[in-house]
Amino acid sequence: MSDPNLLRRREFVKTAGTAAVAAAVLPSALRADVRRRRYAIVGTGHRGTGMWGADLAKRYSDVLEFVGLCDANPKRLAAGRDLIGAECPTYTGFDEMLEKARPELLMVTTVDSTHVEQITRALDRGVDVITEKPMVTDERQVKAVLDAERRNNRKIVVTFNYRYAPKHQKIKELLMSGEIGRVTSVDFSWYLDVQHGADYFRRWHRLKSRGGSLWVHKATHHFDLVNWWLGADPVEVAAYGELNVYGKAGPFRHTHCRPCPHKAKCPFYFDLTKNERLMKLYARAEDVDGYHRDGCVFREDVDIYDTMSAVVKYSDGAQMTYSLNAAMPFEGYRLAFNGTKGRLEVRDYERQPWPETEDSEAYLTKSFGKREKIEMPHGEGGHGGGDNRLRDLLFRNASVPDYMRLPDARAGAMSVLTGVAARTSIEKRRPVKISELVTL
Ligand SMILES: NC(=O)c1ccc[n+]([C@@H]2O[C@H](COP(=O)([O-])OP(=O)(O)OC[C@H]3O[C@@H](n4cnc5c(N)ncnc54)[C@H](O)[C@@H]3O)[C@@H](O)[C@H]2O)c1
Repeated sequence: MSDPNLLRRREFVKTAGTAAVAAAVLPSALRADVRRRRYAIVGTGHRGTGMWGADLAKRYSDVLEFVGLCDANPKRLAAGRDLIGAECPTYTGFDEMLEKARPELLMVTTVDSTHVEQITRALDRGVDVITEKPMVTDERQVKAVLDAERRNNRKIVVTFNYRYAPKHQKIKELLMSGEIGRVTSVDFSWYLDVQHGADYFRRWHRLKSRGGSLWVHKATHHFDLVNWWLGADPVEVAAYGELNVYGKAGPFRHTHCRPCPHKAKCPFYFDLTKNERLMKLYARAEDVDGYHRDGCVFREDVDIYDTMSAVVKYSDGAQMTYSLNAAMPFEGYRLAFNGTKGRLEVRDYERQPWPETEDSEAYLTKSFGKREKIEMPHGEGGHGGGDNRLRDLLFRNASVPDYMRLPDARAGAMSVLTGVAARTSIEKRRPVKISELVTL
């Protein structure tokens, strides 16, 4: 058990803290023998400095060597390096970093619409890529990434951390067990509350040109989960979307919260000054690129939707009715799989203004049979425990069953394309086939 690669599936499944276990069981004398992979990050914002920065520097330095950090904003780059605590060189030029730092592994944590540039350029230099979701934001970018992957024969992993939440693995295993028969339809409603949901409208995510809309930026997680749970591909999407609360729908507006004359009466007022990390990363770097982390949620330029619904048809004949609402009084989801032999339903509670004893409640009901309550496992840490388990799998090669293998570029493409088809369906006012968008 001294080799982290020998961590067994049982341990991976059981605990969200496998890395801590591996680090603890690896004697320090042996650690020097483990060859560390040369690791670089492009995009030293929230995600690059946290989940893929400081947390890795703290817990994975026996297997990773930070060799370069890159960001287009030099002030955020300096703040990011400080927050990560890495001693490596920094670069504002991406190609310069690839050339001088010579990473073997690149983490892409930039604004969604720029992932394509960094992924393809890294692959073309023979560097393996881990990219944050969404892999890209439109169908042309999907094609560019898949082409680059093919011509270089390098690996891409898309960080679909929700797959690794123990409760989501449990759902996968229940569906694979055949208890409810063949899945004929899925009911899936995701609720973003007035804190988390509103935050998308404060930031670059409010523009389709940056995040591809919440159909891509956020729903990519949900579409990936469904593709994986069903083991099927999306075929056709019909969708609707409206902006009901944020953007032009708001009663008043300003540029951002700090100087806002309406702050006393605005329920969405966000006091950035109370968060030193955000001040350091964003407020003190905003003179460089004009980016306000506390942007007004009611700005006129918001061009995404806060109210979305879609019907998706899948390659195995299943259908899904899906909705995403971004101004709800609580956060979580309702999910049900209707099968030829029964139904599996899940209510997930992330945050609500009432006490809840469980984070996730599930029932399996057999047709002509009984209802059974399913015990849902709890995971520690971000994204239902998915963040920790994903990192262990990425950097410690924890052994997992086939269905828990790392999501690849094809998975990244299929989930993005579902969202792009939904967006296109709204624009064209008709159902859109995935095959119209790109040939895979
Ligand atoms: N998996 C998850 O659960 C999860 C959660 C949050 C964010 N994300 C993803 O992580 C990524 C980063 O999100 P974030 O919240 O950290 O955003 P952020 O705005 O905090 O950071 C993005 C950084 O990228 C930099 N940047 C933008 N374009 C660049 C370019 N062309 N070259 C170099 N740097 C560039 C910006 O200056 C900024 O520092 C996004 O793709 C987002 O979708 C994933």
